[in-house]
Amino acid sequence: MFKCVALVGATGAVGRIMRQLLESRHLPVERYRFLASARSAGSTITFQGKPIVVEELTKQAFAGCDLVIATTPDDIARDYLPAAVEAGATVIDESGYWRMDKNVPLVIPEINPQEALKVKAGIISSPNCSTTQMALALKPLHDYGKVKRVVVSTYQATSGIGVQGQKELIEGTAAALKGESYNYTAFKHPIAFNCIPQIGGHKEDGYTSEEMKMVYETRKILGDESIMVCPTAVRIPVSNCHSESIMVETERPISPEKARELFASFPGIKVVDDLHNSQYPLPSTSDGCDLVYVGRIRKDISHPNGLAFWCVSDNLRKGAATNAVQIAELIAKHRFG
Ligand SMILES: NC(=O)c1ccc[n+]([C@@H]2O[C@H](COP(=O)([O-])OP(=O)(O)OC[C@H]3O[C@@H](n4cnc5c(N)ncnc54)[C@H](OP(=O)(O)O)[C@@H]3O)[C@@H](O)[C@H]2O)c1
Repeated sequence: MFKCVALVGATGAVGRIMRQLLESRHLPVERYRFLASARSAGSTITFQGKPIVVEELTKQAFAGCDLVIATTPDDIARDYLPAAVEAGATVIDESGYWRMDKNVPLVIPEINPQEALKVKAGIISSPNCSTTQMALALKPLHDYGKVKRVVVSTYQATSGIGVQGQKELIEGTAAALKGESYNYTAFKHPIAFNCIPQIGGHKEDGYTSEEMKMVYETRKILGDESIMVCPTAVRIPVSNCHSESIMVETERPISPEKARELFASFPGIKVVDDLHNSQYPLPSTSDGCDLVYVGRIRKDISHPNGLAFWCVSDNLRKGAATNAVQIAELIAKHRFG
């Protein structure tokens, strides 16, 4: 069993779900430690029925930890995680900082579990939330018909930018209903009753950083640099769960019936697809669930080898915490049986 597991960013939106998962899924661990910023240090969190005092993250804090699960902003992951590796820990990181490093595997356990098992003292990255659900849905299509091109539009929840995003959706909506103004800090425009077609900073050729993550990370996870992705990432006033409209062009045509069969037999995916009875994936029904849901599966009538579908997943769970905990479980099974 792991001697000591440090959860870095234990107080954040993803950290809170990780604590719930670690409590319910029984990873073999002797001792847990929770780390966060100086703002939270000293506060107490009840975990597995016992109080754990949150410690301030420092470079020395990793002594004795054999597994570190980190869910902090990119700059914190950049500055502190090398110290965890130096201390001998296997690190599973949720941030975007290490994902495209050629020495760091980018892992979705249903797709490339073997990559995680190669790492001893080192970093394993968990992908961006909007990428994880898309890459998982693309994988069975790619295996069967080779994905050539993807056009994706996202409808992303406010929890994607953490606790502050969720708080500002609620407070901003309450203010808007009262006709009052609200000072948003997490969003560049009011999110209440609005859609914002910018997630992340301006990157290149008019795309945002979130959109380019969907391009580069998808290729790395699926191990195919030839896949072309045209993404548009949009923040919408939904508290949790990202939705995506995905159009795929494959080398070998895939009928909607075949796609349903491929999705249904792939681990981590559930098909909810009955337009006649208004059954399709929704953020409201995916909230708190660990799978990637697909529906509205249909032929892309604008292209002979095109398929269109709708995909929803809980960004805090499969898009973040669940994926990281699954990686930890893989490692535990490999090391301890
Ligand atoms: N939200 C998602 O859907 C999602 C999905 C995939 C990946 N991610 C990634 O996961 C990471 C965390 O996201 P989140 O949504 O959970 O954000 P969050 O709610 O803002 O939580 C951030 C966490 O990082 C800690 N932190 C911030 N500054 C720190 C510092 N200087 N030293 C130590 N700890 C510090 C915070 O501690 P305090 O509470 O003490 O400030 C908190 O525990 C980000 O890299 C994000 O991009 C998020």
